[in-house]
Amino acid sequence: MKILVTGGAGFIGSHTVVELIQSGHEITIADNFSNSNKEVLSRIKLITGQETSCYCADLRKEEVVNRIFRIERPEAVIHFAGLKAVGESVADPLSYYDHNIGSTINLLKSMRIYDTRIMVFSSSATVYGDQQHMPVTENASLSVTNPYGRTKLILEKMLEDAGKAYPEMSISILRYFNPIGAHHSGLIGEEPQGTPNNLAPFLMQAAAGVKKELKVFGSDYDTPDGTGIRDYIHVTDLALGHIAALNKGMDHTGVGTYNLGTGEGTSVLQLITAFEEVTGKHVPFVVTDRREGDVAVSYADTNKARKELGWRAKRNIKTMCEDMWRWQLQFPKGYKNIKTLEAEKR
Ligand SMILES: NC(=O)c1ccc[n+]([C@@H]2O[C@H](COP(=O)([O-])OP(=O)(O)OC[C@H]3O[C@@H](n4cnc5c(N)ncnc54)[C@H](O)[C@@H]3O)[C@@H](O)[C@H]2O)c1
Repeated sequence: MKILVTGGAGFIGSHTVVELIQSGHEITIADNFSNSNKEVLSRIKLITGQETSCYCADLRKEEVVNRIFRIERPEAVIHFAGLKAVGESVADPLSYYDHNIGSTINLLKSMRIYDTRIMVFSSSATVYGDQQHMPVTENASLSVTNPYGRTKLILEKMLEDAGKAYPEMSISILRYFNPIGAHHSGLIGEEPQGTPNNLAPFLMQAAAGVKKELKVFGSDYDTPDGTGIRDYIHVTDLALGHIAALNKGMDHTGVGTYNLGTGEGTSVLQLITAFEEVTGKHVPFVVTDRREGDVAVSYADTNKARKELGWRAKRNIKTMCEDMWRWQLQFPKGYKNIKTLEAEKR
């Protein structure tokens, strides 16, 4: 299948592109590289042996999106592109509405014009807000506490409306829990620009001595060890979830919403311990106040994805830690400040 992957140079996008190519799909990436590095394209080629076509494009520009569709005529869109930093979204909400919502409207318009029927969309467990009952199912009530989350909620509603109005479309809304890990080759991984927002990159920077210590936000939650519990999922399992959704989209229409997680909760302290055991590295950390907007516990009920998509996450915390540490060790500066691997070999 010919697939347009927006944000395909980013963390989750690049891992998904690798799995898509290895499943025989033809991929075009559209990314403005605002939170990614072109070096990722060489790494994808090293892993898959294939060149990936890529447009350096800002999806907020309708004519640019239209041009990509006119040339490429994709049969499906996997839409990762967007901004994702909660704190930044509070400080600069309009950028978040502009990038996240503006881009998606442009994509849907082009999909209508060029008869592209299948869309797989990156949503987030953030739309569940603070739930009383865990594991959380897809039909739980939704609420958000920040502009980033609000863009995801608005987009989910927009996609549901589009699915009703255009019954020939197939739309999968995937609610990710906490993606971590890296490709098992260690060639691609998460490279946050500036200060990381997520636990995993912080943890690795503390282990590698790049940061003095990891900040653990709160140890007084109502959890066994007092730290927050999350459902960490290996980024490769997440990538494979997109292929499962794509396969379903080929012979189904309508809108389906799915949790992509492992169904298991791991506390911050448990993740630190697992990481130390796997890598033999000490992770210095300090406990600070809770971070505003963080919930105590979040993990997924994954039954719907298992039954309807035939997908489940297979990689455990140990593999997540091993793979992300391999990426950190091989490329301590991520994609930055290094020559391409080909140049290094010469
Ligand atoms: N990483 C997570 O923890 C997480 C959790 C839940 C949901 N998500 C969602 O998954 C998606 C991918 O996340 P990620 O972690 O890979 O993020 P990422 O920042 O690594 O990737 C997003 C990519 O989109 C590109 N981009 C941003 N705005 C663009 C625009 N206007 N036009 C073209 N390209 C643009 C960026 O350059 C980047 O390469 C996002 O939509 C994010 O909200 C991520």
